[in-house]
Amino acid sequence: MTKGHVFLVGFMGSGKSTVARLVAAAIGRPSVDLDDMVEQRSGRPIPEIFAEDGEEAFRDAETQALLSLSERPSSVVACGGGVVLRPENRAALRRMGTVVFLSVSAAEALARIGDVSTRPLLSGAGGSLAATALLAAREGLYRSVADIVVDTEGKTPDEVAEAVSAALEGAS
Ligand code: S3P
Repeated sequence: MTKGHVFLVGFMGSGKSTVARLVAAAIGRPSVDLDDMVEQRSGRPIPEIFAEDGEEAFRDAETQALLSLSERPSSVVACGGGVVLRPENRAALRRMGTVVFLSVSAAEALARIGDVSTRPLLSGAGGSLAATALLAAREGLYRSVADIVVDTEGKTPDEVAEAVSAALEGAS
């Protein structure tokens, strides 16, 4: 089993939060959700942080939450979909553990999310176009930080979690 944290990265709707809980239970580690940490620290839901302070302020809070994980015991961490945007975050992910990219198509991600009102980057007009463009812009970043890639298309969270746990077993 790998040392350090296990970070799950990928697009909104790729199943990171659910899969993080399942993998954490399977390998006996705590599960942490970076979006939850940001919300707890700021005392507001993410759409409110975006609306009141803007995306950059959210990104600052996300980076702070990520860096604070160096103080925590090895956990399975569900990251927000945009964590890979900042080079500083990409370096931190690689430094602090093993990175697993959960890949998904924009169409399946949108179908899984359903109500996009909790996702400020998708909730404006043209949500499905936004999803396709955002995913295309980020795909390379997800792959650039990943030690392990698991395709989640058409799979249940349990199936994805099993694939992640098996890949972690095989990782050094
Ligand atoms: C974001 C993804 C969200 C959340 C915020 C921004 C993004 O997390 O961090 O709305 O830029 O992709 P999830 O991927 O958990 O939905």
